[in-house]
This record gives sequence, C-alpha cells and structure tokens, in this order.
Amino acid sequence: NYYAIIMAGGIGSRFWPISRTSHPKQFIDILGTGKTLIQNTYERFLKICPKENIYVVTNEIYTDLVKTQLPDMTDAQILTEPVMRNTAPCVAYGCYKIESLNPDAVIVVAPSDHLILNEAGFIESIEASLKTAEEHKCLVTLGIMPSRPDTGYGYIQYNEEVIDDKFHKVKTFTEKPTLEIAKTFIQSGDFLWNAGIFIWSAKAIVSAFDKYLPDMHEIFAEARSVYNSDNEKLHVHNAYQRCTNISIDYGIMEKADNVYVLPSEFGWSDLGTWASVYQLVEKDYVGNAVIPAEKVIMYDSSNCMVNVPDDKLVILKGLHDYIVVESNNTLLICPKEDEQNVKQVVADVKQKF
Ligand code: GDD
Ligand code: MG
Repeated sequence: NYYAIIMAGGIGSRFWPISRTSHPKQFIDILGTGKTLIQNTYERFLKICPKENIYVVTNEIYTDLVKTQLPDMTDAQILTEPVMRNTAPCVAYGCYKIESLNPDAVIVVAPSDHLILNEAGFIESIEASLKTAEEHKCLVTLGIMPSRPDTGYGYIQYNEEVIDDKFHKVKTFTEKPTLEIAKTFIQSGDFLWNAGIFIWSAKAIVSAFDKYLPDMHEIFAEARSVYNSDNEKLHVHNAYQRCTNISIDYGIMEKADNVYVLPSEFGWSDLGTWASVYQLVEKDYVGNAVIPAEKVIMYDSSNCMVNVPDDKLVILKGLHDYIVVESNNTLLICPKEDEQNVKQVVADVKQKF
C-alpha cells in the first residue's frame, strides 16, 4: 500500500542562472556526483516502495527531461501539469489519482531537488512515518534541526506529546517567516525546519483538502471518474485552469490540526541556495569555493562561491562573501547574504527580456 510522489515541477529560481525555467535544478547534477537530483530521489524511493507505485508530477514542459532521466517510468506514472500552480494542486493531483486506484494507499510526497547524505537514516524515517500515518490517519512531516534563521523554510513548533514514541504533535507551522520572526524561532529553541517531505494516507490528505482547500478538493474529486482513463490528461489540464496558486505548506500544513513531526537527521540539505551548496563543497584556506577552479584567479578575496563555465577566465580582486555565477551567457554577482532576493531578480529579468 506504499506509494511515492516526486514533485518535480518547480523552477528552482534561486539557482539562476544555472537553473533555468527550461532546465531546472532537479534535472541538474549540481554537486557533480554523476546523477541528477531527481535520479537520486527516484533511487531512494525504489528502496521504499514498488517501482510501479512511484509517480512524478511535473510541468508538461519537463516531460521529456523526466522520461530521459528516469527511463524506467511508464507514461502513466508521469503526471503532467499544463500550468505552474505551486505544490497544492500537484499534491492533490497525485494523491487523488492514487486514492482512486487504491483507497488504502499511504503516500510519501517529496521534493525532487534535495540532497540526502545518509540514505539508510532517510529510509528508516520514511518507513516509520508510513506506519504511523497509516495507523493514526494523521499528516506527518519530517523536521530538521535548524542552524540559522533562514527565511526560505517552514518552521514547526512541536509539543511534548508524542505518538509511536517519537512523532511529536505539531503546535504551529509557519511557512517562510520574516527574518525577524525566524530569529525569534531559532532563539526559542523549540522549532524545527520543515523538510518539505510529507507522509499521509490517501484518506487523510483528501479530507484535509476537503476541509482547508474545498475548491481544490472539488476539482480533483470531480476528476475521480477520469483518472486512469484516456480522458485523464484533457480533464485534468482543464481542471488546472481553475486551481489557485498555493503551496501545500500555506494551503494545508499551516492550518491542519492533525499534524505530527518526526525530528530527523539524515544529512539533509534542500540545496535551495548557493549558500547551501557552498557549505557542502570543498573550500580553500580563505573560504573560497570555486567550481571548476582551473581558470579562476583570486587575489585578496575570501568566502566566495564561484561557479563559472570551465573555459572562462575569471579574475576576482578584493571580493568577499559574494556569489559569482555564470551560465548561459548570463552573469550574476551578488552578496551571499542577499541571495533570497535572486527570485525577485529573475522575475524582473523575465519581465524585461
Ligand atoms: N509538480 C510541481 N508543480 N512541482 C512543483 C511546483 C509545481 O507547480 N512548484 C514546486 N514544485 C516542486 C519543486 O520542484 C520542489 O521539488 C518541491 O516541489 C518544493 O517546491 P519548492 O518551490 O522548492 O518549495 P520551497 O523550497 O520554497 O519550500 C518547501 O520546502 C522547504 C524545504 O526545502 C516548503 O515545504 C518549506 O516549508 C520547506 O521548509
Ligand atoms: Mg525547495
């Protein structure tokens, strides 16, 4: 009864210009491991559920990338979206479809673009969560010990109350707080980062949609008769036009009252920003991380994250704590601490060019 849904329709805009709308981060081998992030994600789930129970939800413009990178997946396992509406419709489509196939399904929903260093620890956490979600009909999320007041994450405050020894009842869930609020969360010490990996039974998530996003519930429940038929694609594509643009975090996790968190540690990084890549890669004695290093010359510069084409000669002098990234004939130079704003930059650029 175990299923997995890989969410792979985001554009990873903070990694711009390396990650582009036409080729986002999940389809890139960002750390140079020989496999792309979505390939690593898929392989992790092969160890958790049967391969025919793994689904990918992605935008139709990425269908070919998914097929090429995950050649074992059948067309029926690749669910396509005609427009980007964030993760709530993506979760609904995947979960309602699986529910129509198997009402007793228990599903893990995960991003396609994370790094997980301790795979055994990850599998253990997911398997325990699948059992708890099945038995208690609750919504489970994985929580990571936070290390800085990052405004790109959801923050989970939890109670002492536990079920199955280690799943804590969630008191509050705050998606992407302001820096000021994130700082108070970190200081108070009883918050975890939301890893963005969710585990629930099909029934539990359907009733959460019914309660908190009733319009979306109606759209995807109405489609029950077409899932797994020839009409699925056409019908679902029309349905998407009626969906609001909202993430599962704002739409459901912030509101639901039956959420439990499993504090987890498995070498997790969402590789969400250059700063997170910077932390993981090798640095020289003054803290510069340069990929690739052949033709980059640095004088009196420190703590920079440099990623440029390998044939590019780059000279930096007197630069500290900067990101310097070039790809696709586009160059970005930005202080490391400002990188959350790259999303806005990308939006501006798109409007202008
Ligand atoms: N199919 C589909 N359609 N997938 C999408 C869409 C969409 O419209 N939008 C995003 N995704 C995919 C992304 O590709 C990624 O794999 C995953 O869904 C999560 O989306 P992000 O856009 O990366 O979310 P986030 O990083 O800002 O925030 C989430 O993850 C954080 C941890 O990394 C939230 O769950 C936070 O609470 C959490 O802390
Ligand atoms: Mg993310």
